[in-house]
Amino acid sequence: MLCPPVFVEGKVRSIRCALSCAGGIQPPEAAPYLPFFLFFPLFPSLFAHRRFSPPPGRPQYFTKLSIAPITILFYLTRSPHFMPTRILGLSAFYHDSAAALVVDGTIVAAAQEERFTRIKHDHNFPTKAVNYCLREAGIGPEEIDYVVFYDKPLQKFDRLLETYLAYAPAGLRSFMMAMPLWLKTKLHLPREIRKALGGKYRRRIAFTRHHESHAASAFYPSPFEEAAILTMDGVGEWDTASIGLGRGHKIELLKTLEFPHSLGLLYSAFTYFCGFKVNSGEYKLMGLAPYGEPRYEKVIRERLMDLKDDGSFRLDMRYFNYAQGLTMTNAEFARLFDGPPRDPESSITQREMDLAASIQKVTEDIVLRMARYAKELTGARHLCLAGGVALNCVANGVLLKAGIFDDIWIPSAAGDAGGALGAALFCQHQLLGRERTPQPGDTLGGALLGPRFSNAEIRAFLEAKGIRHHYCAEEAELLRLTAQAIAEEKVIGWFQDRMEFGPRALGARSIIGDARSAQMQSQMNLRIKYRESFRPFAPSALEEDSPVIFDLEQPSPYMLLVAPVREDLRCALTDEEQTAMRDPDLRKRVNVKRSSVPAITHVDFSARIQTVNEARNGRYYRLIREFKRQTGSGVIINTSFNIRGEPIVCTPQDAYRCFMGCDMDVLVLENFILYKTEQPQLSREEKDTYVASFHLD
Ligand SMILES: [Fe+2]
Repeated sequence: MLCPPVFVEGKVRSIRCALSCAGGIQPPEAAPYLPFFLFFPLFPSLFAHRRFSPPPGRPQYFTKLSIAPITILFYLTRSPHFMPTRILGLSAFYHDSAAALVVDGTIVAAAQEERFTRIKHDHNFPTKAVNYCLREAGIGPEEIDYVVFYDKPLQKFDRLLETYLAYAPAGLRSFMMAMPLWLKTKLHLPREIRKALGGKYRRRIAFTRHHESHAASAFYPSPFEEAAILTMDGVGEWDTASIGLGRGHKIELLKTLEFPHSLGLLYSAFTYFCGFKVNSGEYKLMGLAPYGEPRYEKVIRERLMDLKDDGSFRLDMRYFNYAQGLTMTNAEFARLFDGPPRDPESSITQREMDLAASIQKVTEDIVLRMARYAKELTGARHLCLAGGVALNCVANGVLLKAGIFDDIWIPSAAGDAGGALGAALFCQHQLLGRERTPQPGDTLGGALLGPRFSNAEIRAFLEAKGIRHHYCAEEAELLRLTAQAIAEEKVIGWFQDRMEFGPRALGARSIIGDARSAQMQSQMNLRIKYRESFRPFAPSALEEDSPVIFDLEQPSPYMLLVAPVREDLRCALTDEEQTAMRDPDLRKRVNVKRSSVPAITHVDFSARIQTVNEARNGRYYRLIREFKRQTGSGVIINTSFNIRGEPIVCTPQDAYRCFMGCDMDVLVLENFILYKTEQPQLSREEKDTYVASFHLD
């Protein structure tokens, strides 16, 4: 295929454009209107004397002076400089619905709907997440100033119609399946949003472009005054990737790539073909890649795409089905890659491993090309990344190592859930023109933006249910006992502080264990997660210790960078282990001890790192520090507090249910410690019922 470059000029978004698209948000900058505010109150009073007679015996000017302060007060109370501006951001109706609340530029709360409804990747309107955000701020729906939705449904609908027409009649079935939701809900979003807010919200609703939301979620909370912005995902309205520049409080999208040419959808096509769930199993494909050889890389480059130097590309749609069908790939694709797609849950063969390695390599190359082009376009020293592809932490690690930018920053919720926060921040800074002050680190607060439960609330729950527990009034004692249990190779549910915003557990709703234990990986997978995983667990390491454990100099607070375990910690393999490393059974390969921290070391010595510091992580940092005091190791296993298919736990009730539903040994709920040996044992059937209540992801 020979085609012209495919990046298109980004639609530069002026305030005027924003106003029309946003349904009439008025930029309430008070300063330019101040003289008007001061003199306007006199206007009605100038005319008042014509209609109202002054009280007997009072001079004419009394009327003027009595009206003026009332009018001034009225305008002042409308001015954003005197009243907090509360902006609710929403993402919904695709996957990972979420809500976020920004008050005067501060991120007050953000959460995914799945955590409340207990439905993984819940796509419905985030009613419960909205209620939580409002509760956290102590306000009602009528006190919200702006509601902002994270994409433009009409433009999305336009893309759907154009695509169906282009492929008609091939996509008829898919079209008929999609239409009811569009006609009933998605085309009436203002009505649906108002209904969901109990009819109490009467102000305007704004809609941002999907990639503006991603770009805003990446740039505004970042520590940078100026940065290039790269967003890559499946698809928004038309855009599938964008390159932009953030400076101060403004974002400008300079170039975009358009549907159907999408890096996210290309990766999802291979996810589907390898038997994993789209929009969920992409990280499994990424974890599978180190087992394979990229022997399909050439085929992907030569047959599936026409890749340009700037990272833009055209896909050959003869091999894909996602534009018009109900699957991602078609028979032509299967012919190209040696047979039909793998059946979900069937055993993984070398073909899938090689496919994973190949598409991972191509993805990394595309990300690098786009990043180089972003550097060329903007000249910026820093880069912000977002969109679903930014969750590919292996590619992020490669990008960081390439040194194209001095530093990169990726938000915890880089996918569509983060679009809710991005939409709210876009309104705050871009549409309303409010200044922004970057902070060292970032302004995401360690992504701890969800609900918190006090010791009093937890005690009330435990006592109401008659659950045996121990209360540690002193944090030092709590940490000593927990660290001791980790060192004894116990599996611990760790429930503290506010819940994380984003797909990763970051030490607030985590299952933790000893990274030095060779058995811990298989134990945790089989007894706790109910899965036979080929992926190692992720580590949480003290930020100051990270450089001596991993080849990573910079912090990775949101577990979005992959780097190798340092060579001096790696193990030489015995003959037997070398044989095991060639075994078709991946569980045998993953169980070979690769380093002195085997539970978190992948077969290629890589690790998906979370660095932890006291300012961001508080008690979680102090726990790992205590573990280091006891054992000399400043790194532990951190995996999400859930079983397979279950959303990460949100409440103490969720945590206790999960603790009882699997073979976890200890549960730490704020200052309370629960030991499994002191709890009534659930029967196998009861545990099976719990496991069966979640769909496999
Ligand atoms: Fe997206």
